[in-house]
Amino acid sequence: MTDRPTETADNGDSVDISIQSLPSIQESGTEDLRRRAVETLTTARDRTALLTSCVDDHDLTAQHSPLMSPLVWDLAHIGNQEEQWLLRAVGGRDAIRPEIDSIYDAFEHPRSARPTLPLLPPAEARTYAADVRGRVLDIIERTPLDGGGPLLDAGFAFGMIAQHEQQHDETMLITHQLRRGPAALTAPEPPAGDMTGLPAETLIPAGRFTMGTSAEPWSLDNERPAHQRILPAFHIDTVPVTNGAYQRFIEDGGYTDERWWAPEGWAQIREHGIEAPLFWRREGGQWLRRRFGTVEAVPADEPVLHVSWYEADAYARWAGRRLPTEEEWEKTARHDPVSGRSLRHPWGDEDPTPVHANLGQRHLRPAPVGSYPRGASPLGVRQLIGDVWEWTSSDFLPYPGFVAFPYREYSEVFFGSAHKVLRGGSFAVDAVACRGTFRNWDLPVRRQIFSGFRTARDA
Ligand code: AVJ
Ligand code: FE
Repeated sequence: MTDRPTETADNGDSVDISIQSLPSIQESGTEDLRRRAVETLTTARDRTALLTSCVDDHDLTAQHSPLMSPLVWDLAHIGNQEEQWLLRAVGGRDAIRPEIDSIYDAFEHPRSARPTLPLLPPAEARTYAADVRGRVLDIIERTPLDGGGPLLDAGFAFGMIAQHEQQHDETMLITHQLRRGPAALTAPEPPAGDMTGLPAETLIPAGRFTMGTSAEPWSLDNERPAHQRILPAFHIDTVPVTNGAYQRFIEDGGYTDERWWAPEGWAQIREHGIEAPLFWRREGGQWLRRRFGTVEAVPADEPVLHVSWYEADAYARWAGRRLPTEEEWEKTARHDPVSGRSLRHPWGDEDPTPVHANLGQRHLRPAPVGSYPRGASPLGVRQLIGDVWEWTSSDFLPYPGFVAFPYREYSEVFFGSAHKVLRGGSFAVDAVACRGTFRNWDLPVRRQIFSGFRTARDA
């Protein structure tokens, strides 16, 4: 499946304007859809189980940071969302425990207040989530996964809930990173990087491309619909900005020179005494960082992590460059200049595998720059998917023709100038919740998230 331009491609070829199916989902029969629904939900639950079993009950109920919920809130919230959408909305069942809905409603209680709620204790939260899951598997067996309306088409509701759980698995990994104390999680090292022959930046030629998607069956509302954009030519970094490059900004006095900073960013670093990415500390002329309970030297060739939008923006200005817009990022990641089409991923329409990108908490850090040659875009841009979420200069806004689905609180209530868009996914997000069209957003002050960036300039 590919999103087709609605008219002649940049290269003059006339192209297929029909919306093509994703062979792996839409051309598959109902048995394949069932299998895929069960598989993605099971993968998510395995990860949730790991993240909530590697620490004790005290750590599950503690507030490790006012920015985050206690892990046990995420666990029951995952179960509660699944109950509301898959058991009640899809399955037509009654609520199992109607009295807990409001406790796990993210809009009723800010994260900082969640520890004071009458939360289900760890054992009960686990039993509740498992009970919901058992009934969901039963519903998957009995429900026709196509033709039952938009919520069921191509198993959408199951895909949405698998993505929701994986998004909270990333949130829980952020909580693990903020937690003090010895390491609870381990993972193998990511593959090595090789920058040999890679240019510092890549030229993306001017012209039209298809942004967003109308064809990706499990895309979320804010990624839709596919529509045309025309951009002037620009240059974009071939790889994300590294710790080594970022250190040069620090050492050049970047954090003490107001010229580089947006006023709100300057105010934030002054107020909080910020002088480096979150989790960094200088010791005897060397930068160290804390990563999942271990202190280590900051690796120079790894994409910088845990920077705010303001820090990314200031670095770019210092470097004589700027952040890419969201449309520039997506054109870089999806536009195939040969066919004129937008691909699902930089490497093509194939689902991500471990040779393409660093996803799914398989490694608990970004891979060094110059890795994943098979994940390159048609023009050779690397590591767009996985490793670090990339800040863009853009506000989080709806595409022309946006329709909230299936609930306004996923995207619509966040549209506006308060939130900036991040693209491409981090090492902490699973493939089911990451693709060339996927949009994440956060406040520009946030730095506990797995955020980095690359820079751009006009051609
Ligand atoms: C898309 C990551 C910003 O975590 O706030 C989880 C995802 N929405 N539950 C978030 C989400 C509802 C959302 N982000
Ligand atoms: Fe949620």
